[in-house]
Amino acid sequence: MSEQKVMVLTGASRGIGHATVKRFGAEGWRVLTCSRQAFDPRCPWPGGEENHIQIDLASPDATIAAIARIKEKIGGKLHALVNNAGISPKAPGGGRLSTLDTDLRTWGQVFHVNFFASIVLARGFKDELAAAKGSVVNVTSIAGVRVHPFAGAAYATSKAALAALTREMAHDFGPMGVRVNAIAPGEIETAILSPGTDKIVEKLPMRRLGQPKEVADAIWFLCSDQSSYISGAEIEVNGAQHV
Ligand SMILES: NC(=O)c1ccc[n+]([C@@H]2O[C@H](COP(=O)([O-])OP(=O)(O)OC[C@H]3O[C@@H](n4cnc5c(N)ncnc54)[C@H](OP(=O)(O)O)[C@@H]3O)[C@@H](O)[C@H]2O)c1
Repeated sequence: MSEQKVMVLTGASRGIGHATVKRFGAEGWRVLTCSRQAFDPRCPWPGGEENHIQIDLASPDATIAAIARIKEKIGGKLHALVNNAGISPKAPGGGRLSTLDTDLRTWGQVFHVNFFASIVLARGFKDELAAAKGSVVNVTSIAGVRVHPFAGAAYATSKAALAALTREMAHDFGPMGVRVNAIAPGEIETAILSPGTDKIVEKLPMRRLGQPKEVADAIWFLCSDQSSYISGAEIEVNGAQHV
């Protein structure tokens, strides 16, 4: 029997992460999930509860402290790390937070969840990733390369930094046989979307929102042997929104 592959996935309780855990679970992987809330029995999957780690990635101390606990659960080889958890705070009333009105605390929180946690986890698991010749996927965003009508400045800059981090990590992890890539979703039908997104959708070349499963399929590709010589890339999953 071939060995069961293991993945660490942040933010699996909803949206893109949820579709990703379902996708990899269906392929027989053991998925260790990390998010703030306890495991939600309303949408279970086999092994979900015992493989869930409750952690607030906005806290650097909690993130660093969780490494040893997660390493123990991994048990030697890590075939994939997917840094998917992300936050996109809004102004009171739901407005966009610009460079002029984002306070430093909010800015820091966004960077801890969307950016710093990714490198803390990847570095923490480097031996396990190297042992499996694993793959890291960072979930960036179309907002990382252009001003977006709803995504705020802290969010956009954290995603631009995460894209740059992907490049740096591909360089540094490559000699260990670990590939590092990013996927940049456009407008995907999840809770993170803002009211008014329908106006953007009308102008998209494909005239529709993306589905979380379509992003999970791209993550699957980047964690599979089908992409064995792809590293340092950022794949757009946006129905041609960027053209
Ligand atoms: N949906 C889109 O259109 C879109 C577009 C571009 C990029 N993205 C990116 O795709 C990723 C997933 O987005 P989504 O739309 O699926 O988001 P979502 O539905 O809002 O889910 C976010 C996930 O992150 C977890 N999370 C949030 N804050 C956390 C924290 N402090 N510590 C640990 N976990 C935390 C949440 O779980 P808990 O609540 O349990 O913590 C949840 O599972 C994000 O990085 C997002 O920026 C999404």
